[in-house]
Amino acid sequence: VEKPKMPYNLIGEKKLSMLVDAFYYRVSKHELLAPIFPEDLTETARKQKQFLTQYLGGPPLYTEEHGHPMLRARHLPFPITEERAKAWLSCMDEAMDEVELEGQVREDFYHRLVLTAHHMVNTETPER
Ligand code: HEM
Repeated sequence: VEKPKMPYNLIGEKKLSMLVDAFYYRVSKHELLAPIFPEDLTETARKQKQFLTQYLGGPPLYTEEHGHPMLRARHLPFPITEERAKAWLSCMDEAMDEVELEGQVREDFYHRLVLTAHHMVNTETPER
């Protein structure tokens, strides 16, 4: 069933895919983020495309393949500081600029990501 008002439908599959690729390119170059991510981000990007599709109101691709997201639990193996949350968000902000995601849909999406990113913070000390 088409749900044209969902952010997923406003952004579209192609732009979301470009966004995730632009985002992980930045992650791979970021001195605070790169060390906690796998060297090959192909699978990470694939899962993130599935996750963000459902996060934005599109089909539940992530849950179909991986079950309940339990995002905070899945991030517990990685030391996520406030600084890393800010770095993650700055990579996303720049990626949104690169793919020219603009307007209210961008503002709403980014605001939700700010809340989700801060929810992932699980340590105060950079090296654990
Ligand atoms: C996976 C870091 C925020 C969604 C991961 C992984 C790392 C990571 C290291 C594992 C990558 C892998 O092994 O493939 C971070 C950091 C964040 C952050 C430092 C800063 C706050 C977020 C946010 C979202 C998100 C805000 C969603 C909006 C995901 C998803 C996965 C993932 C869907 C894949 C989970 C899986 O393995 O199934 N993240 N993340 N992350 N992250 Fe984050």
